[in-house]
Amino acid sequence: MVRAGRFSGTADAPGDKSISHRALILASLATERCTVSHLAPGADVRSTAACLKSLGAQIEMDAASGAVVTGCGLTRLQSPGAPLDCGNSGTTIRLLSGVIAGSAVGGVLDGDESLRRRPMKRVLEPLRAMGAKAQGSRGKGGDETAPLQFEPGKPLAGRSHELAVASAQVKSALLLAGLWAGGRTTVREPHRSRDHSERMLKAFGAPVQVLEGGAVSIAGPTAALHAPAQLHVPGDASSAAFLVAAALMTPGGEVEVRGVNVNPTRIGFFKVLQRMGAILELTPEPDSAGEPVAAIKAREASALLSTELASAEIPSLIDEVPILSVLATQARGLTTIRGAAELRFKESDRIAQMARGLTAMGAEVEELDDGLRIRGPSRLHGARIDAASDHRIAMSFAVAGLIAEGETFIHGAEWADISFPGFFQLLSRLSGGAVSVSGEQRRPGRA
Ligand code: S3P
Repeated sequence: MVRAGRFSGTADAPGDKSISHRALILASLATERCTVSHLAPGADVRSTAACLKSLGAQIEMDAASGAVVTGCGLTRLQSPGAPLDCGNSGTTIRLLSGVIAGSAVGGVLDGDESLRRRPMKRVLEPLRAMGAKAQGSRGKGGDETAPLQFEPGKPLAGRSHELAVASAQVKSALLLAGLWAGGRTTVREPHRSRDHSERMLKAFGAPVQVLEGGAVSIAGPTAALHAPAQLHVPGDASSAAFLVAAALMTPGGEVEVRGVNVNPTRIGFFKVLQRMGAILELTPEPDSAGEPVAAIKAREASALLSTELASAEIPSLIDEVPILSVLATQARGLTTIRGAAELRFKESDRIAQMARGLTAMGAEVEELDDGLRIRGPSRLHGARIDAASDHRIAMSFAVAGLIAEGETFIHGAEWADISFPGFFQLLSRLSGGAVSVSGEQRRPGRA
């Protein structure tokens, strides 16, 4: 891609990935037929659907990002005959760990090379404390990784968990296991992570409670979940973030992204942008799947200011740190992002990848153990960037390429398909053709 002379237009945010996984899982654990529309179009959610089918749910996906799900209820899941392939998806493997451990059907969860490197002890250990017979393969530094083996066994016992690091995936796995466990399962986090599971469990009639101080608790065993007839997944704020960032940094930029989920636990990025001096207009739209929704309008920001981010804010923008670090290269002063060590355990080591790529483009970046220090504004220049098999790295550098002098080439751009198929085509439309997609780049990412 080359520098964009403009970035303007309107777009609809693709369906939210986190909410899509949860909608398919809970609908599969209910018995009523549930039509889910506007599912996240990427490979991750297809991985969840395929695994749920192997566990006995009937899921018919249609071409228009919808699915009709007929669940098998909490008591009729079947043990999968073969290892379940979670592809590249951390949410799939961690949430389904909770389902397989809780339902005690047994099975093996596995994934691609990147997923096999990610830490899984954080979910296996608390499940074992509830009585699950679960084991991972030996990982780095005494951690456990996929493939994960679950023995069929006895019902679990509810218990209270204190997570060392805020994680919606771990919290959700434990709440899902808590559906079957005898007694109360409670999860406390150092900072509150996204609450889509709590909202959706409530919508399905599960006895979930948010306690004072933000801990979440579920009383089990739950007799049954009840699916609504229709669920429309709102748009993904993490995907919208790339378009908003591009508009803020491009001369004359102006974009409106419609149908964006503005759940308070997900909008840290937009709040930080406002703090940095960006003007965003949020127009409320009707709620969807129990979540607040808005259209977000962003215009070129004439002067972005640096900011500081610490651990309390990180969970509300965990997936937006890569694109935020691109914005920080254009903000006046020193931006410091700390308390974000978790980024090293995502689809790639996102701290290292952003430091490496932004430095190659001419930014002033210092890599910290738990974050980044970025001094701006810098004039970026084009570079050859490796997406490191990571969708958010590919998309962040695509946006950086739109404001860089010269040409930026992203090796592995097709990884964007994990969460945002059509991203490069959309970027090309909004930028008036500053992006070209080569045949090689168009190959879909491995799911
Ligand atoms: C997710 C939670 C976050 C996030 C991921 C999706 C979820 O991960 O980074 O993209 O859907 O629960 P952690 O739970 O590891 O923070």
